[in-house]
Amino acid sequence: MTQVQEENPLVTGLQIRRTPDPCAFVIFGASGDLTRRKLLPALYSLAYRRLLPESFTVVGAARTEETDDEFRLRMEEAVKEFARDPFRQDVWEPLADGMRYVATDFADDRGQDELAKILTEFDDQRGTLGNRLYYFAVPPTAIPSLVEELGERRTSEGWTRLVIEKPFGWDLGSARELNELLRPHFTEEEIFRIDHYLGKETVQNMLALRFANGIFEPIWNRQFIDHVQITVAESIGIEGRASYYESAGAMRDIFQNHLLQLVALTAMEPPIDFRSDQVRNEKVKVLRSIHTPGPKSIVRGQYGRGFVEGEEVPGYREEPGVPPDSLTETYVAAKMFVDNWRWADTPFYVRMGKRLPRRETTIAIQFKQAPHPPFEEAATEGLRANTLVVHVQPDEGVSLSIGAKVPGAGMAIRSVNMDFLYGGAFRTGLPEAYERLILDAMLGDQTLFTRTDEVEEQWSLVDAIVAAWKRDRPGFPNYAAGTWGPPSANELIERDGRSWRHH
Ligand code: BG6
Repeated sequence: MTQVQEENPLVTGLQIRRTPDPCAFVIFGASGDLTRRKLLPALYSLAYRRLLPESFTVVGAARTEETDDEFRLRMEEAVKEFARDPFRQDVWEPLADGMRYVATDFADDRGQDELAKILTEFDDQRGTLGNRLYYFAVPPTAIPSLVEELGERRTSEGWTRLVIEKPFGWDLGSARELNELLRPHFTEEEIFRIDHYLGKETVQNMLALRFANGIFEPIWNRQFIDHVQITVAESIGIEGRASYYESAGAMRDIFQNHLLQLVALTAMEPPIDFRSDQVRNEKVKVLRSIHTPGPKSIVRGQYGRGFVEGEEVPGYREEPGVPPDSLTETYVAAKMFVDNWRWADTPFYVRMGKRLPRRETTIAIQFKQAPHPPFEEAATEGLRANTLVVHVQPDEGVSLSIGAKVPGAGMAIRSVNMDFLYGGAFRTGLPEAYERLILDAMLGDQTLFTRTDEVEEQWSLVDAIVAAWKRDRPGFPNYAAGTWGPPSANELIERDGRSWRHH
C-alpha cells in the first residue's frame, strides 16, 4: 500500500474544515465515567490539534459537590490517563482556564441560575457569543427536567444544541415521549442523538469503501453476496455498571444502536449526496425493511464463570449489584433479513456479547462461491469463498480473501488475504470517535447522529424481540466467560449450512 504523506502532524486524522463558532460546552453528568474517559480526553485532543474555536469554555455540572479547582484537577488527571496524545501544559492550561464547575441536581433552580450566570459571564469575558452545546451524559430519568429547564431559559442570542447520549429512551414509547418533550423547545436540527460507533473512522470507511470505489457497488447485492456477518465482541464484562446493564442488557446496550447502525451502513443504498438528511434517509429505509426475526432466528445468552485471556472471571450473576437470578442477556445472536430488492433472501447474521474471548468488531461480506471451479476437488480444499472483512476494531483495516495458487508443482489453491491496514497506509493515529462527533456537533453537522425516525425504527424492532422473549424463561447462564457464546448460536447459523467466521 502507498504511504499517504500528511503535511501537518497536528491536524492529521481529522480533516481540517471550518473552525467551529465560539461556544460554551456544558456537560451534565460531569462526575461520571464518560466525562473522564471520553469527553475530556476528546476535548484535549481537539485542543492539541488546534481544532477548537478560539473562544471555548467548559462547564461541568453534576450532583457531587466540587470546587472549580477540584474539577480542573480531576479532569487533568483524566486527560493524563486517557487521552491519546501526550500531556502538554501549554495545551491544557488554556483549556483549564476556561473551565468551571456547578453542583446541581439538574432540576433545581439554584443550580440552573448559577449555570446561567457563569455562561453569561463567559459570553462577556471570553466571547462565547451565547452559543451553547449542552451534553447530556446523564441517565434517561434526568433528561425531562433538564430539557424543560433549558427550554424555558433559552435566549434568542447565539445557537443552542443538545447532544444526547444513548440510550435515547427505553423503548419506543419512552423514546417518543422524549421526542415530544424536546419538540416544543428544540428543533430536530438542534438535537444530536449520539451513537459513538458512527464516529469511528472504520465505520465511516464503510461509506468510502462502498461509494468511492467503482468495483464493489455492482456486486454489493443478493446476486453476488451469500450472506453478511457482523460481530461486536467484547472481552470485558460489565465493568461495575450493574444498575445500568441490568435494565439494558445486550439488546438495548449494543443491538438497538451500534449493531443496527452497522447493518444500516452496510445495507443502505447510495445517498444522492453526503448531506445529513440524504445519508439518514437511506439508513432509515434499511431499518424499516428489517423484519423482526422469529424465535428460531434469535438467540440470547448470559455468561457464567470462566477464563478470559488466561484470567478467571466471575459469571454475570456474580458481578457486584447483579441479582443471583438475573435474566438479563449479555449475548445476542440473530439472523435478520433486509426485505428489499437488493437484499431479499440474503441473511445478515449478527452477534454481540460480553466476556467473549477477545475484543473484535468486524463486518464480513461473504460472496458466493465461484460458479464452476475448473480444478479438481482436492486442489481447492483450502479455499474459502471470497470474503471482504471490514475490521472496525482492533487492527483497523479492510481485508479481502482470495484464492491463490500454492507455489510448487501441481495445482493447489488456498485462501490468502489482501490487506489494507490503517497503521500501514496512513502514518497518523486514528482519532477517537468522540473527537469527531463533538467537533461535528460544534459545527452543526448531523450526518453522524441518529435522527428521530431512525431511533424510533430501532426501538420498534427491539420492542418486538423483547416482547417475544417475555414468553419463555431462558436457562441462564448458558455460556462460559471466554467462549464464543451459547451453543445455540452455532446452531442458528449451522442450520443454514454456514458457520461463524473462524474463532
Ligand atoms: C457502549 C456500551 O455504548 O459501547 C458499552 O454501553 C460497550 O457496554 C461500549 O462496552 C463499546 O464501545 P467500544 O467503542 O469500546 O467498542
